[in-house]
Amino acid sequence: MKKIKDRAETALANAENFEELEKIRIEYLGKKGKLTQVLRGMGKLPPEERPLIGQLANQIREELENQIEDVKKEIKEKEKHAKLKQEVIDITIPGRKYNIGKKHPLTLILEDIKGFFIGMGYEVVEGPEIELDYYNFEALNIPENHPARDMQDTFYINDKILLRTQTSPVQVRVMEKTSPPLRIIAPGRVYRSDEVDATHSPMFHQVEVLAVDENLSLGDLKGTLIAFARHLFGEDRGVRFRPSYFPFTEPSAELDISCIACNGAGCRLCKYSGWLEILGCGMVNPKVLEIVGYDPEKVSGFAAGMGVERIALLKYGIDDMRLFFENDLRFLYQF
Ligand code: FA5
Ligand code: MG
Repeated sequence: MKKIKDRAETALANAENFEELEKIRIEYLGKKGKLTQVLRGMGKLPPEERPLIGQLANQIREELENQIEDVKKEIKEKEKHAKLKQEVIDITIPGRKYNIGKKHPLTLILEDIKGFFIGMGYEVVEGPEIELDYYNFEALNIPENHPARDMQDTFYINDKILLRTQTSPVQVRVMEKTSPPLRIIAPGRVYRSDEVDATHSPMFHQVEVLAVDENLSLGDLKGTLIAFARHLFGEDRGVRFRPSYFPFTEPSAELDISCIACNGAGCRLCKYSGWLEILGCGMVNPKVLEIVGYDPEKVSGFAAGMGVERIALLKYGIDDMRLFFENDLRFLYQF
C-alpha cells in the first residue's frame, strides 16, 4: 500500500492537466483502481489484520483525494495564468500608422467659397459641362460672330455644342425655370483652348454668383462682393472695383484686391500695379433678363464669376497653377 501511495504521489506531482489527473484518479482510486483492489482483497486477510489494513487504506485514500484536489487547484491557476498571458496587451507598442487622405487645395477653396455664400442664403446649383452654344454664348448676349467670342477660346464639339467656357450659362438655365427672387451660386469645371502656363489651364474651375430680385442695385453687388473678398483674404484687405466689359452684364467690373505679396506697394506678383484681379461681375444685362422671360422693368440682378485656381494661387501663395493638377503628394500634403 505504501508503494501504491508513493507511485500515486509521484504521478500526481507530474500531472500537467485535468486529463492526466483524472487518469491517475481512476488508476488508483477508481472502481478497479489499485487501492480499491487492495480493499476488495481484504477478505483474504486474517480477521485481526483487517481493521488495521482497512484503516490504513482509507487513510491513504483520503490523503490521495486531498492531494488530487490540491493538484486540481494548481492546474486551474496555471491555466488561468497561461490564458491571461496570451491575452495580454502591450500598450507600449507603437500604434500602426495608416495614411489619411487629404482634401485637395482646390476643394478647400471651393468649400470656403460655398460656405460664405450658403451663409448668405444662396443655393448651390450645377449645370452641364457639355453645353449648347445657345446657353454659353447666345442667351448671354454674345451672338455668332460677336467679337466677344474671341475673349474665350472655345472647344467646339460641333457648331451647336461645345465645352462650356464659363459657368455663366447656368445663370440662364436657372432663370429659365425659376421665377425671381433667386440667389444661387454655380460651381463647376470650364474649358478653354488656352495655352498652359503658370496662370492658365485648359480646364479650370469657376464659381458663378447670381442674385435677382426687385430693386437690386450696384450697391448690393458691391456690398456682397466686398464682404466675400474680405472673408477670403482678410478684413483689412484693400478692395477696388475696376470698370470692365462683359456682354451679359451692364455695367461690368472686375474686382481687385490689394496685392497679397506687397500689400499695394508694387511687386512682380502684381506686375507693379499693387492690385490682383479676383473676379468679373456686373449688373445682369436687361437683354439677358428679357431672353429668359423676366421683366427688366420689375426685377434687376447682379452676377459675378470667379476663377477658383487663381483665387487658390493667391490665397496659398503658390506661383504655378500646374501644381494643382500634377498630384505630387509632396505638394498635396502641405494643405
Ligand atoms: C468670365 O468667364 C465671366 N463669365 C465672369 C463673369 C460672370 C463676369 C458673371 C460677369 C458676370 P473671364 O473670362 O474673365 O470672365 O474669366 C473669369 C476668371 O476665370 C478669370 O478672372 C480667371 O480667374 C479665370 N480664368 C480665365 N482663364 C483661365 C485659365 N485658362 N486658367 C485658369 N483660370 C482662368
Ligand atoms: Mg478677365
